[in-house]
Amino acid sequence: MALAIADPAEMRAWSDATRASGETIALVPTMGALHRGHLELIEAASEQAERVVVSIFVNPLQFGEASDFQSYPRTIDDDRRSCEGAGVDVVYVPAADAVYPDGFATTVHVAGVTDGMEGASRPGHFDGVTTVVTKLFTVVRPDLAVFGEKDFQQLAIVRRMTADLDLGVRIVGHRTVREPDGLALSSRNRRLSDEQREAAACVPRALRVGSDAAKADESTVHEVLDAATKVLAAEPRAIVDYVALVDATSLRPVTEFDVDHRAPGRVRLAIAARFGDVRLIDNIDPFDA
Ligand code: PAJ
Repeated sequence: MALAIADPAEMRAWSDATRASGETIALVPTMGALHRGHLELIEAASEQAERVVVSIFVNPLQFGEASDFQSYPRTIDDDRRSCEGAGVDVVYVPAADAVYPDGFATTVHVAGVTDGMEGASRPGHFDGVTTVVTKLFTVVRPDLAVFGEKDFQQLAIVRRMTADLDLGVRIVGHRTVREPDGLALSSRNRRLSDEQREAAACVPRALRVGSDAAKADESTVHEVLDAATKVLAAEPRAIVDYVALVDATSLRPVTEFDVDHRAPGRVRLAIAARFGDVRLIDNIDPFDA
């Protein structure tokens, strides 16, 4: 089995010794219930560093509703086996009271990029993410950390925070891993009923249709949002939270395309929708899809 470490001091000691021996460390932060998306992140990590640490911690601070936190899938034995198979060196599995001991009173807050989309829909969520990621970075002190583009806003926020706080970790973004029908892999997918799972394919379909609309000559932002929204509206099981076209760095809404926007890496089309009580998010680069 890969070495499992629960104690932050022990994790730090392992990292210090590894770094002292001249080896580089990559961190892949997760909340467990590992799937092929996580495994691709781990693969990318092992291509870019000599040692790989995977953290598994269902972070209470980033959940709004207690019920969402409680129903979050926990599959630690399977996760450890997956990590073993993927050649992970250390699985870091701290207990909640080791991460947030009595008296814990510090929050890391990133302004601006956290305002829209998930930040608007899930108040406090990103403070929970940035606080725990900072703590993971300061305990593991990796050379690089890999995050998925599936959570595009999270990736942009972590980049902003790492630069602003001089955390000295290279942030690597990894492409979204999808099912054959386009649905982005997510730990939450396993909570979908068969009918909801089938319906959920409208999310990647809407992104694709929006992306095609964007690439048409002289398309407008309104046409792109309209095209994507219509696909979602045709699926009665989908309850749409937002359809947004944003700048890829600032995440501010783009209201009109200018010439610079029509190239890969400049803008992002993002969707959040609920199927029953399962909320899914996804996004695409409309000029690189
Ligand atoms: P979690 O949802 O477990 O995701 C861990 C990492 O896997 C994130 O970087 C996420 O973007 C990536 N990921 C998830 N699904 C993916 C997919 N289909 N393709 C590619 N990458 C995918 O994101 C979190 O945990 C937490 O917020 C965390 C950063 C660990 C902080 O608690």
